[in-house]
Formats: sequence, C-alpha cells, structure tokens
Amino acid sequence: MNIIFISPDNPAPWRKALRKHLPEADVFFCGSDDIGADFDASAMDYALVWKPEPGLLPSFPNLKGIFNLGAGVDALLLDQTLPRHIPLVRLVEPRLSSGMVEYVAHWVLHFHRDMHVYARQQRARDWVQHNNAAVATRRVGILGLGELGQSCAHALLMLGFENLSGWSRTAKQLPGVQSFAGDDGLKDFLKQAEILVCLLPLTVDTRGLINAETLALLPKGAFIINAGRGPLVVDDDLIAALESGHVEAAALDVFNTEPLPQDHPYWGMDNVFITPHIASLTTPMSSSAVIADALHDLEAGKTPANLVDFDQGY
Ligand code: NDP
Ligand code: OXD
Repeated sequence: MNIIFISPDNPAPWRKALRKHLPEADVFFCGSDDIGADFDASAMDYALVWKPEPGLLPSFPNLKGIFNLGAGVDALLLDQTLPRHIPLVRLVEPRLSSGMVEYVAHWVLHFHRDMHVYARQQRARDWVQHNNAAVATRRVGILGLGELGQSCAHALLMLGFENLSGWSRTAKQLPGVQSFAGDDGLKDFLKQAEILVCLLPLTVDTRGLINAETLALLPKGAFIINAGRGPLVVDDDLIAALESGHVEAAALDVFNTEPLPQDHPYWGMDNVFITPHIASLTTPMSSSAVIADALHDLEAGKTPANLVDFDQGY
C-alpha cells in the first residue's frame, strides 16, 4: 500500500508515527527526496493531507481515500478539483479533543474569574478585588456541539459550569446541556450566553455568523472565545462591539487572514487575547493511530468513522 503525505509539517515525527501504526505502508513525503524521477503518482492508494495546493490531488488518479490531518475541512473543500467520489475522512482523536478542552477551559475560567481585569490592574499597579459570579450561575454557551464542542461541554460541567447550553444544526440530548438547534434556536441561545465559545466548522451557512446582529443579542458585557475558524466572525462588527463594551473581551485563536496581519486592529486592543491558531494542534503519534484504524476499515470495505459530508460541508 502506498501513501502520499502532503503537509507543511515536519516529516520526521510523521515518518516515525506512520511506521509504527501502518508498518505495511510505503509513505512518500511530498517535497522530499521520496519524490524522485521514478516516483509513480498513479501508484498512490491514499493521501494524508493538510491544506494541499489546490489542483494537486487529481494528480494522484487512483486514490481510494483522503485523510485530512485536522478536524476542519473548510480549506480542502474550497479546492474545486478535490476528488469527491472517494471518501474524505477528517481527524477526530483524543489528543485533538483534549487540546481544545484545555484551551477552552483556560479562557472560560480566565474571563469568569476576571483575569483580564487583573492583568489590566497589574499594569496600573492597582490593588482592587472584584466578586465574581458563582460558577454554577455563569451562563456559558457553546456554538457547535460536535466532537470538540461536546468534549468542552463535558469538561466545563466537571468544573461546575452547570448553566451550560449549546447550539447545533440538529438538536442534542446531552445531560446537563440545554440544547438549541437551527436558525430558530439561535436567537434564544445567544440571548443568554455570557461566555460564548465558538467551535463551529466554517461552511456556507456559518460564514459571518458572528456579526453585528448576532453580537447585539448577547448579554451586555459578554465574552467571546473563537477557536472554530476566523471567517465565522465579521471582524469590524466584533471590533465595534469590543470598543463599545457590549462585548467585554475576546480570546481569538483563528482569524480571517492567518497569520494575523501586522497592522490588524486586534493586535492593539487590550481586551483581545490572541493566539496563533494553537488551540489544538495535530500530533503525529495519536493521529496516526486513528488514521490507521480508518484506513484499515476502508481496506476491509467498511465505512470508517468521521467521513466528511460533502453536502453539509463538514
Ligand atoms: P464536528 O463536525 O464534530 O462538529 C461541528 C458542530 O457544528 C456540530 O455540532 C454541527 O451540528 C454544528 N454545525 C455545523 N453547521 C452548523 C449550522 N449551520 N448551524 C448550527 N450548527 C452547525 O466538528 P469538530 O467539533 O470536530 O470541530 C469543529 C471545528 O473546530 C472544526 O471544523 C475546525 O474549524 C475547528 N478546529 C479548530 C482548531 C484550532 O486549533 N483552533 C483545532 C481543531 C478544530 P450537528 O451536530 O447538528 O451536525
Ligand atoms: C483543525 C485545526 O481543523 O487545527 O484541526 O484548525
């Protein structure tokens, strides 16, 4: 079995991980010496990819499956030449989920306990204590109750955030989480989200979802944590809400343009906390284990988990 690996990641840890979990496979790393004069693109059975150059995948005409080396497939689906007649599997694995749980729990607690205020006070050498809301009464809303949203909900419940709600396309029955769904549920969901966590995929339906109209529905002084995708947010609208104080602070991991341009207003705002798309990074060893399982399912003629639904776009 032959695998073509296309990603800007360092190949060394991937070579080691894939050798361990797929010892039967010959793996060819795009851009390395593996692709010599005798390299036969038509002999590739599977592709492991992260943001491959648009137009590249059809040069491997006999692929039986494509594995996205991340959870979000928005960049891949933008490629009009992406082969859609073969399965596309996205990454769902415990390390990716635990990374996101750490990021989200960090910022929810940060805002819940006024750490953004104390950081400002420290710069002013100001010693002032603030009472914060009880954890059980703090209203946290999660946009997107999929793999990552549900993992975060579970962790927040464990931390005592009992006033938890979530919004998804289809209604959910999750113990301890009030479920809102579809366009009808969005308004009521937003009205009560004091801390809004965004873990939606980027699709035609979710692009620009966080805009002036939806931000206005949030309670005054709300917080936003976006680890989904940058284009879910209309930046000018969020900046206006942050400047007016309607949104008190935001933690942003993902942006409309990445890296965030040097002259972007977010950099200079002291109520915006920026991280460079690190909420949860793909790790070769744990990812290779689940990729191997899915690949073995495909080889055995079974349907693997976490297939992308091309119609829904995630
Ligand atoms: P899932 O596909 O498991 O979950 C997506 C959730 O969004 C589902 O609950 C789905 O609803 C909901 N959803 C999708 N479209 C709509 C819509 N139009 N209206 C309402 N709800 C909608 O994805 P994951 O949880 O695995 O990942 C989510 C995203 O997180 C990824 O797509 C990626 O963009 C981002 N991500 C960011 C990382 C980072 O480091 N910043 C790392 C990893 C992922 P339903 O349940 O009904 O299908
Ligand atoms: C992902 C990401 O989608 O890292 O996995 O953004």
